[in-house]
Order: sequence, then C-alpha cells, then structure tokens
Amino acid sequence: MDAISVIRTKRDRGRLGDDQIDWIVDAYTRGEVADEQMSALAMAILLNGMDRGEIARWTAAMIASGERMDFSSLSRPTADKHSTGGVGDKITLPLAPLVAACGAAVPQLSGRGLGHTGGTLDKLESIPGWRALLSNEEMLGVLRDVGCVICAAGDGLAPADKKLYALRDVTGTVEAIPLIASSIMSKKIAEGTGSLVLDVKVGSGAFMKNLDDARELARTMVGLGTDHGVRTVALLTDMSTPLGLTAGNALEVRESVEVLAGGGPADVVELTLALAREMLDAAGLPDADPARALADGSAMDHWRRMIAAQGGDPDAPLPVARERHTLRAETSGVLTRLDAYAVGLAAWRLGAGRARKEDPVQAGAGVEMHAKPGDRVTAGAPLLTLHTDTPERFDYALEALAGDAVEITDTDSFEPVPLILDRIA
Ligand code: URA
Repeated sequence: MDAISVIRTKRDRGRLGDDQIDWIVDAYTRGEVADEQMSALAMAILLNGMDRGEIARWTAAMIASGERMDFSSLSRPTADKHSTGGVGDKITLPLAPLVAACGAAVPQLSGRGLGHTGGTLDKLESIPGWRALLSNEEMLGVLRDVGCVICAAGDGLAPADKKLYALRDVTGTVEAIPLIASSIMSKKIAEGTGSLVLDVKVGSGAFMKNLDDARELARTMVGLGTDHGVRTVALLTDMSTPLGLTAGNALEVRESVEVLAGGGPADVVELTLALAREMLDAAGLPDADPARALADGSAMDHWRRMIAAQGGDPDAPLPVARERHTLRAETSGVLTRLDAYAVGLAAWRLGAGRARKEDPVQAGAGVEMHAKPGDRVTAGAPLLTLHTDTPERFDYALEALAGDAVEITDTDSFEPVPLILDRIA
C-alpha cells in the first residue's frame, strides 16, 4: 500500500476500501505517511466526501489507533456531552456538576479553543490552581469521588485524531462533515461513555453555518455512536448569536457560577437544563430533576468539589483584565443582531484565544454583552465591554465588530431565533 494511490482514489471521487483506510490511518499515526500527504487526502475528502461505510471504517481506525477507557467499575451510569463549538458556549461548566448531582457519572473530556470558538479547558484554567491534565487513574478517582470530571483527553486516546486535527486546523480542512464526525466520535467512543448528547451548533459562530449541514453532521454522529453501542442523541442549537452575556475565559467561569447559584442568563439556563434532561434520559435516569438540583445547591456543591479535586480553589477571585473599553449604542431601538462570529473573533483578538496552538491565552480577556437580540436599547447605553491586558488590541477587536455585526432597528416586531432548533435520535 502507498499513500499516493490512496490520495488518487479520493481525488478521482472513488470510494476508499477498508484496507486503504486502515492502512493510511495507522501509517499516518506511526509517522510513515507524511503530513503533506495526509493534508492532500484531507482536502480530497473535504471536496469529494465519504459515504457512510467509509466514515464508519475511518472512525473505527481512529479508535483503534489508541487505548479505550473503561468505566465499568463505576456504580453509576455514564453520560457525556459534546458541543461542536461556539461563542460563549460555557455550558459544560454548569452541566457536568448538575448531571452528576442528579445521579449520573460525567467523564467530560474537553478541548482548548479553536479559532474564534472558546475551549472549556482554557476557561477552567482561569481558576487558580485548577489542572486540566490528569492521569487516567486520577480521572477515574475524581469521577468516583465527585461524580464528574472535566479534563484533557490523554495522549493515548485516539492519537490519530490528535495528529490529524492539528493538521486540519492549519490546512483549511476542518469543515468536512466526515472528518468532523469521525474526529468527535472516535474520541467519545474510545472514552467509553455509555451515553452521549451532542450539541450541534448552527449559525455564523459555528462550523456548520446552515441547518441542512448541521442535520447531516448530527445524523452521521448519532449513527456512529449507535453503531458502537453508545446511546447517542443530538440537539441542534442556535449559534447565530453568542450564548449568555460573556465570551472569554474567566468571564465565562463567572457566568457559569451564577447559573450554578440559581441565576445567570436565561438562554444558558435553558440550554443547560435541556441538555441535562437529555443526558439523564439517555443514562436511564428519566425521573431526575435537574431544575431542582440547580435550585437546591447540590449542583453547586458538585462544582466546588470537582474544582477542588482538580487542584483549584473554588473561592479564589477570578482574574480580571487590566483594561476595558465600552462600545455604546449609536441609536435607540431594538437590538436585532449581535453576530456570534464577530463577537467570537473580537474575544479571540482581545487575547481570549490563540493564533498558534502553543500560544498562551489571557484569562481575563473577552467580551461582555449588556444586551441580547430582542432587547430594547437607548442611544449612548453600553452595548459591549471589551476586556484585555493588551489595550493595543482594542482597535483590532473593534474591526471585528464593525459593519453589520451589531444592528439596532426601529421595530416592534422582532422574532428571536429559537435556541433549540431540532432533535435527532
Ligand atoms: N471538534 C473536534 O473534536 N473535531 C472536529 O473536527 C471539530 C470539532
């Protein structure tokens, strides 16, 4: 077998055989196939697609490239959630302790920010002392003692995806449904969760910009999970405007703690509860009441124990950026657009995200929103506050918010986009 013949098959719109897939994924993981060859194949896959059978085999080959975790020693059913990535998407932070408080075990392997989308680990690392890197034994220990753990995937889990994902990030080949589906599902299946709820984001701030593509991605992932014995459900949720009122690392931790304390923005609470219900249902705990676990403090108690078990101080003050700049409404009216991609890009440019994967992020940087689409605003009122340690970035961030990113209209008939757009099981 050689890489060139595999690339040619897909370049010429052919179907990759099982032996071709098994060989190229394994040879790439071992370093026998070069990055430039794999990036040519990834581009051919992006342009010419893969059928169901090819995607299933590719996913199986990525799972087989590493170890599989085993949670069968736990006394509780396992449930995990994965979001395809958005702006202000801090849902994992309140969701994992909430679902644990309702009786499931939540082994939440999470990632870092990618482009304009934020990463759960970057957010949690703004809590003094908190550690994302745990050994498999430590992860299992926290899961057993607390009921939930949020940490980085170990190097042993789907190493083929780790290499391929980094390559796709720099070769314009992230947005391919077969590659996204196999990337996400290989990690989740290798992780060993019994049930999985997918939050497939749709809109300007998501990788999937329209509902049809998001449905296809969701169906592909649900099919892969189900075929591997993982009870899998997907919600398609709006990402045309950011979730909540903050985008940025420590800013989003603060908002998540507000939700755990029984407050927080309505959309964050709605989505957290909807995903919690799906996870508990899939885990065989349909009678659990997540709204009560938020109200009675048990979700907050699990949060505090999880943060402490991973070295963090849940009472430590969160970092605050050194400089702020406020953007004000130019006219009075209804805020009819606050574009998720523009806000994500602004937060990223302020220092909340990284340009190269080894760059540090600023814990305090980001965008605070004072109004959401549908809110009435008056001329001169604050709309957005930009936070950064490096004020020379303000102009660059403001460029992202120029044009039609923010729109105020003199209207009485604004129809907000529903937060939950579809469910695929
Ligand atoms: N998240 C992943 O883990 N993989 C992708 O390809 C895209 C988002």
